[in-house]
Amino acid sequence: MFPGAGRLNPAEIKRALYHRDRRKTIASASHPGGKTPMILDLDPDRLPILETGRLRLEPLGIGDEVNLYPIMGDPEVMAFWDVAEIDDPEVVARIVAAEVEAMGHGRALYWAMRTLTDGAFLGSCDLSDIDRWRRRAEVGFMLGQEAWGQGYALEAMQGVIAFAGVGGVRKLTARTHLGNRRSEVLLQKLGFSEQGLLRGHILKDGERRDCRVFGLLL
Ligand SMILES: CC(C)(COP(=O)(O)OP(=O)(O)OC[C@H]1O[C@@H](n2cnc3c(N)ncnc32)[C@H](O)[C@@H]1OP(=O)(O)O)[C@@H](O)C(=O)NCCC(=O)NCCS
Repeated sequence: MFPGAGRLNPAEIKRALYHRDRRKTIASASHPGGKTPMILDLDPDRLPILETGRLRLEPLGIGDEVNLYPIMGDPEVMAFWDVAEIDDPEVVARIVAAEVEAMGHGRALYWAMRTLTDGAFLGSCDLSDIDRWRRRAEVGFMLGQEAWGQGYALEAMQGVIAFAGVGGVRKLTARTHLGNRRSEVLLQKLGFSEQGLLRGHILKDGERRDCRVFGLLL
């Protein structure tokens, strides 16, 4: 008997059991085997390095704050980010530390994007909010301005999407602030379609901003 059943009359118990069983049936039908699928089953000590035609994506590490600080300190790069540009290197170091910790717990993957030719740091990209049960994750990307307009983000994200698909992810999402045309064009080139509008989703500079949600089924 399930907890609290003693306080219900027989008809209520029947209804409650029906709902409980129905929930279970629905859950096992949508997740064959009934176990959490082992998608992106990663060893935190051997996180994946991805290579594309021109790029090497290496797991972000402690120390990469030095590379990210000039990018996250640029108001144009951060114009459509959830937070304003960051003028304190300590804050970027804390962000990197939090991202490294999230990778250690299997919640996300953050990569430093470097050129294959000379290892120059171009920016970062990620798979975050990894939901193993629903086989979902969110993508993100950020390049220093001097790397814009050369197809690097497209190339990196094609690699990340292929990696996610092979790892068992079946749905990717992305969220952009209204007006972030470059990101929207990139997502459309990657095959994402617009799936909705989140009104007033972000509070930035004292104003509420709308966001677009994009999705891609793999
Ligand atoms: C979003 C962002 C990563 C897009 O960068 P991007 O360089 O415009 O994106 P792409 O890699 O798709 O490159 C496309 C451009 O490269 C050009 N290009 C040059 N060589 C190319 C190649 N080999 N393949 C593809 N495109 C190429 C395209 O013509 C296009 O140029 P255009 O912008 O002048 O039309 C970048 O603007 C950025 O970092 N923004 C700030 C952070 C941000 O907002 N992140 C997203 C939050 S949701």
